[in-house]
Amino acid sequence: MTTASALPAIQYEPALPGQTVVVIGGSAGIGLETARRARAEGAGVVLTGRNPDRLKRAASELGALSSAAFDATDPAALDRFFGDLPETIDHVMVTGGGPYYARLDDLDRERAHRDFDEHLWLAIAVAQHAVGRVRPGGTLLFMGGTGGRARGPGLSLIAAGTAALPALIANLAVEVAPIRVNLIAAGFVDTPLSASLLGDDLDRRRDQLRATLPIGRVVGLADVAALAVHIMTNTALTGATYDIDGGQQLVAR
Ligand SMILES: NC(=O)c1ccc[n+]([C@@H]2O[C@H](COP(=O)([O-])OP(=O)(O)OC[C@H]3O[C@@H](n4cnc5c(N)ncnc54)[C@H](OP(=O)(O)O)[C@@H]3O)[C@@H](O)[C@H]2O)c1
Repeated sequence: MTTASALPAIQYEPALPGQTVVVIGGSAGIGLETARRARAEGAGVVLTGRNPDRLKRAASELGALSSAAFDATDPAALDRFFGDLPETIDHVMVTGGGPYYARLDDLDRERAHRDFDEHLWLAIAVAQHAVGRVRPGGTLLFMGGTGGRARGPGLSLIAAGTAALPALIANLAVEVAPIRVNLIAAGFVDTPLSASLLGDDLDRRRDQLRATLPIGRVVGLADVAALAVHIMTNTALTGATYDIDGGQQLVAR
């Protein structure tokens, strides 16, 4: 019989000691929480976002190595940002803007183009910049969703983006290897973005999810941040999409 004292003691070492994690869209929500966790695991973080005040607060809270306020969909600004980064970085996470829901009748094509820029072209641009700057075995990590796997009025754009992103990420993983490239597909996560999309309906939505999700609770920022850091550290993972939605896609929404 094995006694408790014979079990090896588990020692927890920080997962990202001395590493540099860049979070594009790191001043709020999933990006900020991932940066917070990366700091706790021993990494230095570089944060970006558009709103300079919010970014400054986030950078100061985390003691960031640096921060840069710019719109990540602006190619020249993105070039400058990567040009100013340290010579070698370990991981880049890209969060960014929310989805654009619009019925065909109301769909604004300019905005639809910007939405594709934000969710697809940005991934390509970041992968181009990563070559020669992200160390072999480091990661590029992007955010997508599971909600766009549903079909319905107003979902055309998000449905197309949701289908395209895993294919893009898998192929980028081949193109930029040995840098690893992965995608997190979230369902509802309690973030400032969700609050702004739902407004007064936020509490009702949380209650509904607690009642219907297989996990019986709402997916939180810490859940997604833990997955993000795991993907950064587990060097077997590349080219894949990791769903984190508490089973939301499996049940009636
Ligand atoms: N929350 C959810 O339930 C959920 C579910 C599935 C997928 N996602 C996806 O996950 C990503 C992050 O969501 P979140 O809920 O964490 O959003 P959030 O709370 O609004 O945070 C987004 C972050 O990205 C920054 N950002 C947005 N657009 C940007 C741009 N064009 N250039 C640079 N920075 C930009 C924001 O700062 P500024 O606004 O100051 O730029 C902020 O730091 C989004 O792409 C979202 O679609 C979220």
